[in-house]
Amino acid sequence: MRGRLVAGNWKMHGNRVANRALLDAVVAEIGGLEGVECALCVPYPYLGQVAERLADTPLAWGAQNLSEHAPGAFTGEVSAAMLAEFGCRYVIVGHSERRQLFAETDRLVAAKFAAVLGHGMRPILCLGETLEERDAGRTDQVVERQLQAVLNSNEKDSFKQAVVAYEPVWAIGTGRTASPRQAQAVHAFLRQKLLPETRILYGGSVKAANATEIFAMPDVDGGLIGGASLVAGEFTAIVRAAQGKG
Ligand code: PGA
Repeated sequence: MRGRLVAGNWKMHGNRVANRALLDAVVAEIGGLEGVECALCVPYPYLGQVAERLADTPLAWGAQNLSEHAPGAFTGEVSAAMLAEFGCRYVIVGHSERRQLFAETDRLVAAKFAAVLGHGMRPILCLGETLEERDAGRTDQVVERQLQAVLNSNEKDSFKQAVVAYEPVWAIGTGRTASPRQAQAVHAFLRQKLLPETRILYGGSVKAANATEIFAMPDVDGGLIGGASLVAGEFTAIVRAAQGKG
């Protein structure tokens, strides 16, 4: 059975004081987590703070990006080895903001995916189409291309560890969520190309109010949560929904 996972993606938000309050509230509410895995993917400078606060809790933490290179002369970059040293369990790769705003290609995403796995961490591989691509009926083709680029240079078995997140670009940060049926259709399509045990998360404007119906879909194994992960009450309610206690 695939266990559910709810991962928060703080994006480029936070400061030490606000983080502390958010982490305290999340731990107080879901510190004794059962029946669902939970992780917070935070900006690099806060990994130490988060690792310290979440030690001895069942909550995991991770990063939002990394370099595909081994340590070396790459000014401004962060290696997989460094993240592993911080106790990261997860690293988001191929988020649409990185693809769109930082020109990350399918090949680069595949190399980052390999770097994460090579250091014993779990990639959360993001896939998703733009509104234009959906309207043109190309959703399956786009997510298949994005996934195939990773499968070209990584064993299919790597999806025993790796997590996939289907995030339609038009639903990210827009308040517009894919309907449960739309999400299920893409998840089922991706499932055929992955392993039965691969967890496929849905991401894109998941909130406490819509989490239960999305998580009820048979091929949705949890969520990747952006905006709502910055609000303790919202995030913990989403985790509860994944536990089936929403
Ligand atoms: P959102 O972001 O929940 O704010 O839409 C999701 C994501 O980008 O991972």
